[in-house]
Amino acid sequence: MKFNWNLLTILMLGAVISFTACSKDDDDMDMPEEETLYDRLGGNQMVSDPANPGMMIEQGRLNLRSVADSTIFVIAATPSLEVYFAPLLEEVGAGNLSNIAVLSKDLTDFFSVATGSENATYNGLSMEAAHDPERNPRMGAKSDNQGFDDFVGAVVVGAQQNNVPNELIGEVGELIETLRDVVVQR
Ligand code: HEM
Repeated sequence: MKFNWNLLTILMLGAVISFTACSKDDDDMDMPEEETLYDRLGGNQMVSDPANPGMMIEQGRLNLRSVADSTIFVIAATPSLEVYFAPLLEEVGAGNLSNIAVLSKDLTDFFSVATGSENATYNGLSMEAAHDPERNPRMGAKSDNQGFDDFVGAVVVGAQQNNVPNELIGEVGELIETLRDVVVQR
């Protein structure tokens, strides 16, 4: 009988792959997964969504959405940020809230992914493109460092309004700070 080398190769490859897969599983069992910032902000435990009766939402996402929504209100009440958010604020002044809802979702998705959520996805613009008026006409002007500081201040107040513990606000602040160089474009 002719020896089937192809079959032997396939069997050996299969053995290597399953051995690698097993050893990875063993590693996972030995090393407890590290708690993410998203976990500490509430994590993926499902709770009922107060904004959508009958729907469930992850506790971490709910907390981050509350922070995003409060932050948007703080931004709207911060005169130094008006120039940047002018397109949005003009729409809101005319009674059109639809893009507030879009920004709330985008910010919530972005913060969920950035803090380590396993289930969230962010489909918006890159941070560089989102904050470049030439690529995103919704950005009223290029941000300077002061604009960035004022935005961070709005996030901090938004988080405080939702009773996020100070140490977690500090960690969110550190995360945001890593994006200063791409967001500040003047
Ligand atoms: C690290 C800090 C920041 C983060 C994580 C962030 C995040 C985001 C996200 C996720 C979007 C939505 C992008 C899209 O529509 O695809 C956005 C839009 C925007 N951001 Fe930021 N941002 C930051 C800083 C700033 C700063 C400093 C300013 C202004 C001073 C600013 C002004 C805006 C404006 C005006 C928009 C458009 C809002 C609209 O759609 O009407 N952002 N940002």
